[in-house]
Amino acid sequence: MDVKNIFVIGGGGLMGSGIVQCCIEHGFTTTANDIRDEFVQRGVGGITQRMEGKVAKGKITEEKKTEILGNLKTSTDLADAKDADVVVEVVFEDMALKRDIFTRLDEICPPHTIFASNSSSLPITEMAGFTKRPDKVMGMHFLQPVPVMPLVNAIRGLLTSDETNAAIEKLARDIGKEVIQWQDGPGHGLQLSPMAYYNEAAKVLSEGRGPKEDIDKCFKVGLGMPMGPITTLDFMGMDTVLHILHILHEAYGGSQYHPSQLIVQMAKAGLYGNKAGRGFYTYQ
Ligand SMILES: NC(=O)c1ccc[n+]([C@@H]2O[C@H](COP(=O)([O-])OP(=O)(O)OC[C@H]3O[C@@H](n4cnc5c(N)ncnc54)[C@H](O)[C@@H]3O)[C@@H](O)[C@H]2O)c1
Repeated sequence: MDVKNIFVIGGGGLMGSGIVQCCIEHGFTTTANDIRDEFVQRGVGGITQRMEGKVAKGKITEEKKTEILGNLKTSTDLADAKDADVVVEVVFEDMALKRDIFTRLDEICPPHTIFASNSSSLPITEMAGFTKRPDKVMGMHFLQPVPVMPLVNAIRGLLTSDETNAAIEKLARDIGKEVIQWQDGPGHGLQLSPMAYYNEAAKVLSEGRGPKEDIDKCFKVGLGMPMGPITTLDFMGMDTVLHILHILHEAYGGSQYHPSQLIVQMAKAGLYGNKAGRGFYTYQ
């Protein structure tokens, strides 16, 4: 399948804007869709800033920046997905919301359109069941920050076809990512162990057993990881983290996914992390 037009729903969000950036940088005409224009513009603003940063560092020319931004379209209307070859769904981790979007998309998009979800923890097979094209639905899970992290987790639903799988793998490679494959289920292979350890790190912090800087240092210096768990929680966003933990806890039980009270409180207080300017740490 020849993918030309990509439509990203939730394109103004943390992950969505990163996915849009990767697609336009690799020459795909890409629409950033969100519920309100101010959210779309938030995403576009971040992408433009990052492109200007690349020009300032001599990584791309001014002409290249203009060419990349020329690939970007914006939308606040789901009906604009009518020309998409691939739709990437990147809205909140909420199955009711995803059901509404997939049901409407199925009516809007032509039969060849593939629906990919960036969901961290919700089963793809269930999302596919909201459409009349379950063979064309698949998980395409990116890591935060999307423009930097080189991996995509491809997740096949029970009825995902080989053609859809091949098209999504190719698209991921075409936008500069390596791909690994997981079987569908609540949370995929990459998500299950790290979510438990991020959650446990927040519990250790709330028990006062060590300062956040040392917990991060323990993983960075002690174990050689690029980022400590407390910083990672800030990067993921406390609202998203809480959604994922609830889904994993409901699916698997056990204390490892039972959300840390600190994460619950921080999500309630709006301390979402770097996207809010404040989480465990403070951001500019
Ligand atoms: N944050 C992470 O580290 C991370 C990593 C991998 C996957 N994910 C997954 O990505 C998805 C989004 O997470 P995020 O962190 O980017 O969240 P976010 O809150 O930053 O972004 C979600 C965006 O979706 C938009 N949105 C909500 N309802 C919409 C609708 N009906 N139509 C169009 N746009 C709508 C919101 O306005 C917002 O801009 C979730 O499924 C999450 O599990 C997140």
